[in-house]
Amino acid sequence: VLGFPFIFRGALDVRATDINMEMKLAAAHALADLAKEDVPDSVLKAYGLDQLRFGPDYIIPKPLDARVLMWVAPAVAKAAMESGVARRELDLEAYLDELAARIGAGYQIMRSMQAKAKEAPKRVVFAEGEQPKIIRAAHALLSQGIATPILLGREAVIQAQCQELGLDSLPTVVDPNQSEKRRGYAQNFYEQRQRKGVTATLARDLMRQPNYFGPMMVKQGDADAFVSGLTYNYPEVLRPALQVVGSQPDRGKVSGVYLMLVQGRPYFFSDATVNIDPDAETLATIAINAADVAKRFDVEPRIAMLSFSNFGSTRHAQSEKVRQATEIVKARRPDLVVDGEMQADVAVVPELMAQHYPFSAVKDANVLIFPDLAAANTAYKLLNRLGGAETIGPILVGMGRPVHVLETGADVVDIVNVATLAVVDAQFNS
Ligand SMILES: CC(C)(COP(=O)(O)OP(=O)(O)OC[C@H]1O[C@@H](n2cnc3c(N)ncnc32)[C@H](O)[C@@H]1OP(=O)(O)O)[C@@H](O)C(=O)NCCC(=O)NCCS
Repeated sequence: VLGFPFIFRGALDVRATDINMEMKLAAAHALADLAKEDVPDSVLKAYGLDQLRFGPDYIIPKPLDARVLMWVAPAVAKAAMESGVARRELDLEAYLDELAARIGAGYQIMRSMQAKAKEAPKRVVFAEGEQPKIIRAAHALLSQGIATPILLGREAVIQAQCQELGLDSLPTVVDPNQSEKRRGYAQNFYEQRQRKGVTATLARDLMRQPNYFGPMMVKQGDADAFVSGLTYNYPEVLRPALQVVGSQPDRGKVSGVYLMLVQGRPYFFSDATVNIDPDAETLATIAINAADVAKRFDVEPRIAMLSFSNFGSTRHAQSEKVRQATEIVKARRPDLVVDGEMQADVAVVPELMAQHYPFSAVKDANVLIFPDLAAANTAYKLLNRLGGAETIGPILVGMGRPVHVLETGADVVDIVNVATLAVVDAQFNS
């Protein structure tokens, strides 16, 4: 199951005339190398295991490990080309993209984001540096050249975890309680918030907490991006970060975007993470933030401002708010294609729009702006859990410096993804 399909995939893709020893050896080496990599949580779950590490009980990858395709097929194709049995020459990078698309649109998108991140890796500081999942993610980020991770926590604890996990290299560790920078950070925070109820003593206490210390590292230029949230509730990460780095002056409000992949098609949902009951002005900012995220993924945004009403069909303060927000977006960003208020089905079914509202500027929307947090959060979770959509994010937009919040209990692959997006965000901001 491990060799057959993937050796043939590589052999067929280069139209090989033979499957020679070089190709078989390449497949064997690829499998051996993959077995030494960190095993994704999805594979562990599929086999009901807590951990899997290269050793006497695990010497070859598991058949349900989707990465086998990405490792074996290109190795075989390369060996075929080098040993002269290929009738077709492949660009291996383009071939890897093609294979990634077979695994899923989310995998393919994150591969291209990883390539962007690798062009200029940034320092990403993690609040929860003692957590095994964070250490595994940090190791993956470092070994793949996506980021230079900085783990906040006690060095001895992290070292012991690394040993336990069988990881050879130790990422940079900073212990807020031992750091010589803490006093300076506390003074900075005190000066910034002394008229907002923060005393010098409180500032010193707060800087012992990773969710204050980490954003302050980014603010002071000692790191480029901050990631936290694996073990915290969302507000516990967001509130300190907002106090330390604030929001970008030109955006005003911070909001969160999820990239939802529905049958391979991208949709950007917002705001499912930050603003509980946005007013029209905030809703307009949410829409603009989300459209800018879509552009960062090379998607041309078509924004639908969602409601229970279609273009004035139900007059109510809630639909009026969405209509006003639409007008504000149009005034603030005439370059954007936006319309509303409209119902979700009208937004995503072009035939419905064409039949009933042919005057609308938006057809087949791909940026969906929900009237409040309850609607957005519920919609993305249902689409993910019942609709089987792949989810990338949350992507936080509008923070004064790159700060990104993980979902509680996120898997290692999600942590790597959010950190990758944080690196791209930091590149964008630098
Ligand atoms: C984001 C959140 C934590 C902010 O809480 P809050 O009670 O408004 O926080 P505070 O009043 O302490 O605000 C802290 C600072 O951030 C600012 N702020 C709050 N929300 C902001 C936003 N959306 N954008 C920019 N700044 C914001 C405040 O103005 C304040 O600034 P200041 O202290 O310098 O004057 C809160 O809105 C929240 O809990 N949101 C929902 C999170 C959630 O549960 N998501 C679903 C799960 S993923």
